[in-house]
Amino acid sequence: MKIGISGASGNLGRAIVRELEARGVGEQVVAISRSPETLMVEGETRRGDYDHPDTLAAAYAGIDRLVLIPSVDLRPGVRGRQIKAAVDAAFAAGVPHIVFLSAAGTRRAEVPAMGEAYWTGEQHLIRTASTWTIIRMNYYAESMAEEILSSLDQGVLVGFGDERVGYVSREDLATAVARAVLGEGHAGAIYNATGPALIGGPERAEIASEVLGKSLGYVVIGPEQLRAGMEPLGLPSHVLDAIVEIKTQFVEGYFDILTNDVERLSGRALTPFRDVLAKIAAHAAQN
Ligand SMILES: NC(=O)c1ccc[n+]([C@@H]2O[C@H](COP(=O)([O-])OP(=O)(O)OC[C@H]3O[C@@H](n4cnc5c(N)ncnc54)[C@H](OP(=O)(O)O)[C@@H]3O)[C@@H](O)[C@H]2O)c1
Repeated sequence: MKIGISGASGNLGRAIVRELEARGVGEQVVAISRSPETLMVEGETRRGDYDHPDTLAAAYAGIDRLVLIPSVDLRPGVRGRQIKAAVDAAFAAGVPHIVFLSAAGTRRAEVPAMGEAYWTGEQHLIRTASTWTIIRMNYYAESMAEEILSSLDQGVLVGFGDERVGYVSREDLATAVARAVLGEGHAGAIYNATGPALIGGPERAEIASEVLGKSLGYVVIGPEQLRAGMEPLGLPSHVLDAIVEIKTQFVEGYFDILTNDVERLSGRALTPFRDVLAKIAAHAAQN
C-alpha cells in the first residue's frame, strides 16, 4: 500500500511521516511538498503544489491512501480552492481513500472567513471522493504554547471571554492520523481530535503560571483591542482577521468539544496541555 502525505514538510506532516517510519512502513510513504528535495524520508518524495493542479496528478498517481493536510495560506478563498483542487486531482488519479485534516467546529462559512476552507473542503470531499475519513483538529496545544511564550513580557494572556478549548498535542494527533491511515474501519468517519481536557482562559493562565514560574493573569479584551495590540507586528490584514476569527471561535464554542477519538486511534494516553507547554518552554530555553 502506498501512503501519500500531502503537506509532508510541515509540522504535522513531518510528525505523521516519523510515526509511519517508526511503525516500519516508511518505505510505503510518498512524501509530497512543493520542495520535495528538502524532505528526508525513507520512502519516495514527489512535488505537488495545490496552486498548480497539474503537478498534483503526478504527485497522487498510484497512491492508495492520501493524507491531505491543508496549507496555512490564510488569504481569503485560497485554501478552499486549494483543497478542492487537491480532492479533484486525487479523484482523477484514482486514489481510493482520502484522509482529510479539517478543523473543529466546521460549519457553513463563506469567504472571507478562514473557516470557509474547511467547510468547502469537507463538502467537496464528501461529494467527490470514493472513500474518505475526516479528522477535525482541535486547536494545537503547541500553537497555544507558543502564543503564551510570546505573551510573557505582557504578564497577561488575553481572550474574548469565556472560552473553552480541547487543545490537542500535535504529536498525539500525528499518531492518531498514522494509525487511521494504516487501519481499517475508518471509511466515512468524522473524528474530532481533541486533547484530554477543556481549558478555559483563566485556567490557561493558571497552568502557564505554574509551568513557567511567572504569575500570569487572564484578561478579556475585544477584537479591536487585539488588533490595536498586534499592529506593531505589521501582520497582513488577512492574518489579523484569522487571529480574531480563531479567538472568536474560542468563545463561540467551536473548540468546546472533548472526545476519546485521538486516544482510541493512537492507542495511547493523551498528552495534557501542561506537558506540551513545559516541553515547548524547555526547548525555547535551550535555543
Ligand atoms: N488547529 C490548530 O490549532 C492549527 C494550528 C496551526 C495550523 N493548523 C492547520 O493545520 C495544518 C497543518 O499545520 P502545520 O503546523 O503542519 O502547518 P505547516 O508546518 O505550515 O505545514 C503546511 C504544509 O502545507 C504545505 N503547503 C503550503 N502551501 C502549499 C501549496 N501551495 N501546495 C502544496 N502544499 C503546500 C507545506 O509544504 P511546502 O511548503 O513544502 O510545499 C507544508 O508541508 C494547516 O492546515 C494549518 O492551517 C491548525
